[in-house]
Amino acid sequence: NTIEGGSVTWESPSNIALVKYWGKRKNQIPENPSISFTLTECKTITEVTFTKKQSDDFSFEVYFENQLEDAFKPKIKTFFERIDLYVPFLKDFHFKITTSNTFPHSSGIASSASGMSAIALCLMDMERLFSQNEISEDYFKRKASFLARLGSGSACRSIEGELVVWGKNKSFKDSSDLYGVKFNQPLHDNFKNYQDAILLVDKGEKQVSSTVGHNLMLGHPFAQKRFEQAHENIEYLKNCLISGDVKSFVKIVESEALTLHAMMMTSNPYFILMKPNTLEIINKIWAFRAETNSGLCFTLDAGANVHLLFPKAEESKVYEFINSQLVAYCENGHYICDSIGLGAA
Ligand code: PMV
Repeated sequence: NTIEGGSVTWESPSNIALVKYWGKRKNQIPENPSISFTLTECKTITEVTFTKKQSDDFSFEVYFENQLEDAFKPKIKTFFERIDLYVPFLKDFHFKITTSNTFPHSSGIASSASGMSAIALCLMDMERLFSQNEISEDYFKRKASFLARLGSGSACRSIEGELVVWGKNKSFKDSSDLYGVKFNQPLHDNFKNYQDAILLVDKGEKQVSSTVGHNLMLGHPFAQKRFEQAHENIEYLKNCLISGDVKSFVKIVESEALTLHAMMMTSNPYFILMKPNTLEIINKIWAFRAETNSGLCFTLDAGANVHLLFPKAEESKVYEFINSQLVAYCENGHYICDSIGLGAA
């Protein structure tokens, strides 16, 4: 193509898994299917400026929050190596990648899903720009998700909203190991506009990187049973989301979070990624639910922070509960108010 340069920008959100992806094979193929809520407020904004070059190698620089940041380079280089085959123009340009997050850098919130999906979308914009033919919206999103997966597995679930399924399973006929697909069932009103309050218990760096984490499932004594369970939970969860059964939703989502941590506690080497305050919060949530018959539940990522998921209708009640009883367990009293979103834009 004859285009010498230009720039593209995307905003891509983070997502929170309800059924967790934990364990992968070669080429970022998940060992089990997962499903997540796409978020609204927690996102990455990325601008890619590209200029034609001659040399036959990858050439890029990364600016994070306006500062030249070399720490991200190895991850992006690995990403570029993995997608080279699918992005024929990758070596034709020098890339200036300028990126920032809407959430604080040190918040313990992983930015790999939002960050990798934002770059993938920028590259798809370039493909569209260079293409002789019209590119369908469907192809654009699917390939963006496919590329994002090669940056960080869970990133493939950040392109669309409100719920995304990734990993071949029989509950979702159009599901794939290669990219995320939109939850295509009629979502019950109870789950529309669902809320996610993220309590920042530990803002530090991740204790276990997800690469190390996924590898812990290799030869894990409970791995096969866990992978089967994820398939079952996807099926149960699908039924809850359609029927509006919040009570059963709560049981599956909390069990998934604890199972993820149980896998880490029973691997070799073993890890405890919860903090005392994580457990304090979980116990308070259970007490609150027993007293109020609320649909509030928690989920966890591979860290100590707690995501509180609840119906929109309970918003004021739950925030009152957080402010009176849970802020004390958050680092510097910090939490983030988020809700289900529609995907990247
Ligand atoms: O996308 P990765 O490789 O960073 O893995 C993410 C794994 C979890 O966040 C723990 C679970 C998930 O499904 O998002």
